[in-house]
Amino acid sequence: MSEVKTYPVSTNASQRAWIDESKYFEMYEKSIKNPDAFWGEQGKQLDWIKPYTKVKNASFEPDNVSIKWFEDGTLNASYNCLDRHLAERGDQTAIIWEGDDPGEDKKITYRELHEMVCRLAGGLKSLGAKKGDRITIYMPMIPEAAAAMLACARIGAIHSVVFGGFSPDSLANRIQDCDSNILITADEGLRGGRKVPLKKNADAAMANCPSIKHCVVVKRTGGDIGWQSGRDVWHHELCAQASPDTPAAEMSAEDPLFILYTSGSTGKPKGVLHTTGGYLLFSAMTHKYVFDYHDGDIYWCTADVGWVTGHSYIVYGPLANGAVTLMFEGVPNYPDASRFWQVCDKHKVNIFYTAPTAIRALMREGEEPVKSTDRSSLRLLGSVGEPINPEAWKWYHEVVGDERCPIVDTWWQTETGGILITPLPGATPLKPGSATRPFFGVQPQIVDADGKPLEGACEGNLCMTTSWPGQMRTVFGDHERFVQTYFSTYPGRYFTGDGCRRDEDGYYWITGRVDDVINVSGHRMGTAEVESSLVAHPKVSEAAVVGYPHDIKGQGIYAYVTLLVGEEPTEELRKELVQWVRKDIGPIASPDLIQWAPGLPKTRSGKIMRRILRKIAENDASNLGDTSTLADPSVVADLVENRMNQG
Ligand code: WT7
Repeated sequence: MSEVKTYPVSTNASQRAWIDESKYFEMYEKSIKNPDAFWGEQGKQLDWIKPYTKVKNASFEPDNVSIKWFEDGTLNASYNCLDRHLAERGDQTAIIWEGDDPGEDKKITYRELHEMVCRLAGGLKSLGAKKGDRITIYMPMIPEAAAAMLACARIGAIHSVVFGGFSPDSLANRIQDCDSNILITADEGLRGGRKVPLKKNADAAMANCPSIKHCVVVKRTGGDIGWQSGRDVWHHELCAQASPDTPAAEMSAEDPLFILYTSGSTGKPKGVLHTTGGYLLFSAMTHKYVFDYHDGDIYWCTADVGWVTGHSYIVYGPLANGAVTLMFEGVPNYPDASRFWQVCDKHKVNIFYTAPTAIRALMREGEEPVKSTDRSSLRLLGSVGEPINPEAWKWYHEVVGDERCPIVDTWWQTETGGILITPLPGATPLKPGSATRPFFGVQPQIVDADGKPLEGACEGNLCMTTSWPGQMRTVFGDHERFVQTYFSTYPGRYFTGDGCRRDEDGYYWITGRVDDVINVSGHRMGTAEVESSLVAHPKVSEAAVVGYPHDIKGQGIYAYVTLLVGEEPTEELRKELVQWVRKDIGPIASPDLIQWAPGLPKTRSGKIMRRILRKIAENDASNLGDTSTLADPSVVADLVENRMNQG
C-alpha cells in the first residue's frame, strides 16, 4: 500500500484542548482497566436526582444479552439540558436557528428554550400524555423540533422522531410499530425554497393509525392544510394555555429516552431503543471531547434531527453541555453553493460537523464558492456517516479549513448512541480516511469470518467486546431481534455490520458495510426494503437490490428487476418504478439505476447470489468468482452485457 501522509497534532489544537496525547492514553487505559471507576467518575458530569451506586452491568452472552448503566440512579434529561444551566447561563444562546431563507434566523436563550419546553410538556400532559407513552415527531428543522424532543423527555414520554423526508407509509409503519398516541408535526416544511407537505403526509399516515389520538401542529409556513377537529391541535394554542414551569419527571437511568428507526439487512426498520442516563452522559462527553467544546464556542452540526446525529450532536450532547448549537433548516446548495460557509461567517461558527456526501457535492462546484467566504472563525471540522475518501478529506482540510483546522472523522452508528472511533483534536495525529482510535471505554475487535480475533495490523469484521454507556439497549418490542442481529454472528460480542482494517499504528479504517445494508449519502438503506417495495408493483415479478460506487452519494442504489411475463421493459416503466419506490419509502430510497433482468443468478436452492450482482453493479465483471453453483449460469452473461452505465 502507498505511504499515507500523517498530519501531526497542531500546537494550537493541543494547547487549548481538554485532552492531549498523553492524557488520552492515560484516560483510555483507565477506562479499560477499571470501567466502573472511570464511568462512575464521568457520570458526575450529569445532575442526578438520586445518585447511582452501581455503574456498569452488561452481558453480551447470547442467552442473556442485558445492558444497564447507572441502573439505580434517577435523573431527567430535559432538566440536564435546560434547568441546570439557568442560573449560570439562562441568558446565553442555546440554539441559533438559521432558516432556509438566508434572511431568516433567530437566537433562543436557555431560558427561552426552557419555557418553550415546559409549555409543550404541559400541553402534552393536558392531552393525556404520560410516562412511557410513545410520541412521534415528524418535523422540519425548526427549534420546535428540539423542544418537542425535550418536552417528551421532561414528562418521561418516549419520542420517536421520523425524518421529514419519509413517506406517509414509512411514517405510518413507524407509528404502528411503537403504538404512538400523539404525533407532533408542522403544517409544511421549507427546504431549498420548496415546501414539504408534512401535515398532508401526516394525515395520510394517520388514516392508517387509529392509535393516534392527537396531532399537534406547528404553524411554520401558514399554508393550507386539512384539519380534523378534536384530533388536531395548534401547537401555539396548546402552549399558550400551558404552564411555563412544568416540572421534570424523575426517571430511572434505564428508563427509555427515545426510539429511532433504522434499516437493517432484513425486514422492516428496527426501533433502536436508547435509555436516559448512559445515553445522555455518552452524548455529552463525546461532544465535549471530540469537538473539544469550550464555553463561548459556536458549534454547528448540519445533520437533521430525524437521524441519530441530530439527536446526539444537535440536541442532547450540546445542550447537556450548555453549548451554543446551530440548527439549519435548509440545504447546502440553496440559494447557492456558498451557503454553508456564509452561515459560518454570519454566525462565527468555530466547530463544523458534516457528512462526506455534502463535501463531495460541494467539491464538484469548485473552490470559488468557498474561497469567496472568510471562514476564519472555523477551528475544527468533523465528518460522519460514511468513510471519507482521501480526496474529499484533503479538499475539506485545504480548501474549507485553509489547512488550519483538524478534521475529526467520527465513526459510529444509530445503535452506538454516540461516537466510538475518532480522533481527538488535541491528541491524535490524523491520517486522511481513517477514523483513527477508539474513544474512552471502547474496545474494538477485528475478527475473521469464523469470529477469530485478529491481532496487530489486520482486516476483517468490526466488533466491540464490551459495553459503553451510549449503547442501544434493545429493539423496541423485540428483544430477540436485538440479540439475533447484533450478538449471534460472533457470540459474546457486539457486531457492528462494518468491515474494518487496523494498521500498524493501531489506527482503524472502516471499509464499509459487510451486510445487505447500503449507505446512500450517509443514510442507511436496507436492500430488502427497496426490494419489497419494487415487488409490490403490479408489473414486477422479482427484484434484487445492491449498492454500487457513486461519486456523490458514496453508494448508489442499483436494482435488478424481473418483470411479469408479458410486461414490456420500457423507459417509461423504469421511471415509474423509481417514482413508485420514492413515493412508497421516501426520496432517499429511489433507485439510481434499474437494470431489466430476464433472470437473476440463483443457487439451485433458489438463493439469489448477491455477490455476483454486486460485482456486476460495481463494473467488476472480470472478477465474478465461482459461478459453478448457479442453477442457470447463462443469466450472468446477459446481466454483464446489459449493465447500466452510471449516467
Ligand atoms: C453506519 C451507521 C452515525 C451517524 C450517521 C450514520 C457508516 C458512519 C462513519 C465514518 C466510515 C461510517 C458505517 C456505520 N459510518 N460514520 N466516520 N467512517 N463509516 O448512522 O445510519 O446508523 O449508519 O454508517 O457503515 O455502520 P447510521
